[in-house]
Amino acid sequence: MSTADSKLTQTLAALGITSAEQLLSLFAELRTRFDEQVSSVKDEESWKTLRDAWLGRKSGVFTLITDNWLKPATAELKRAVGAALNELRGHVDAQIEAGRVQVEAGAVSAASAKERVDLSLPGVVRPIGTHHLIRQVFQEIEDIFFSIGFSVVEGPEIETPYYNFEALNIPEFHPVRDDMDTFYLDLPKGAPGPLLLRTHTSPVQIHTMEKRQPPVRVIVPGKVYRRDNPDATHSFMFHQIEGLAVDSDITFCDFTGTIDYFVRQFFGEAVKTRFRPSYFPFTEPSVEFDASCIFCGGSGTAKSGGTCGKCKGAGWIELFGAGMVDPAVYGFVNYDPKKVSGFAFGIGIDRLAMLKYGIDDIQVFFQNDVRFLKQFP
Ligand code: FA5
Repeated sequence: MSTADSKLTQTLAALGITSAEQLLSLFAELRTRFDEQVSSVKDEESWKTLRDAWLGRKSGVFTLITDNWLKPATAELKRAVGAALNELRGHVDAQIEAGRVQVEAGAVSAASAKERVDLSLPGVVRPIGTHHLIRQVFQEIEDIFFSIGFSVVEGPEIETPYYNFEALNIPEFHPVRDDMDTFYLDLPKGAPGPLLLRTHTSPVQIHTMEKRQPPVRVIVPGKVYRRDNPDATHSFMFHQIEGLAVDSDITFCDFTGTIDYFVRQFFGEAVKTRFRPSYFPFTEPSVEFDASCIFCGGSGTAKSGGTCGKCKGAGWIELFGAGMVDPAVYGFVNYDPKKVSGFAFGIGIDRLAMLKYGIDDIQVFFQNDVRFLKQFP
């Protein structure tokens, strides 16, 4: 404890102070000490220390003066002690407040100097993203079908077995269900179900025909799901575009002409197309649509010689399934099969994109490797 501090813990009588002059010089000494301390305040911490040392309730300088000097002072000195105390208190309060303002201003300006934006620095260049290749292929296909009068509709990815299978003429225990095993949702007890992730975009045919009367001319882009093991050409989630055209006089020729137009627009005029008989429960007749191999020009021989690895020498690559809408399907949507006819197709977008852009593994679409994605700006 310094001499000055030790004086604060003694009474005036113990300090031998009996006159007003002595008292004034005692307070002057204190004031000088305070002024020294206040001038060395530089930050919030030292300001707080000073404030507590002088104004602290428990053992601050003013509490000590009141307890040790004022209260026990003789009647003659009490008045003078009170006056000197008030005078010093006014000075200390004012200086501490001024110190607070200064410290705060300093902190604010230090913070704003830190945060100040230097407009002369070069800006942050944010790379602009691009559409994923699958999205680009969707767009290409949509544009082709827009140009011949089709519009886009969408449908739910979570379906009932009725829309995914039954209304498409696939009853329970039909063998086709084996090829379209899918994921069923875990539902709370008592909830109406079952619900599944759709295995194809074909259920949207049913939703559309339930809502609209012919003429219908729509395409349906979307995600679909199957319990397929992943490999170079299979994924458990992939993309399809469904097409549906129903009117009073749609023929097989309209169907082949439309598909042929689409394939030439998408792959180029040089590509040749062909149909092969196939089977889908919801189309009759059903076809599988092939294009001449775009890698070997349909010759079956690779440019470097030897068998073309893409079409395995066949000269043809299978593109997608399609057909004339089976009259049984019209029964599920209250269309009169005697009055309407139409065609439908379902294109696997991922495989189509692989063919067009020479990609040999479907998995790269879903790995989010920017080195791959950047190749298709
Ligand atoms: C269907 O899904 C029918 N809904 C298509 C259809 C629509 C036929 C309208 C007639 C009328 P399919 O099961 O063949 O058919 O599948 C269509 C395409 O999806 C395939 O040609 C293939 O390109 C793609 N595909 C099927 N399974 C997978 C898979 N696991 N991973 C990636 N693509 C797949």
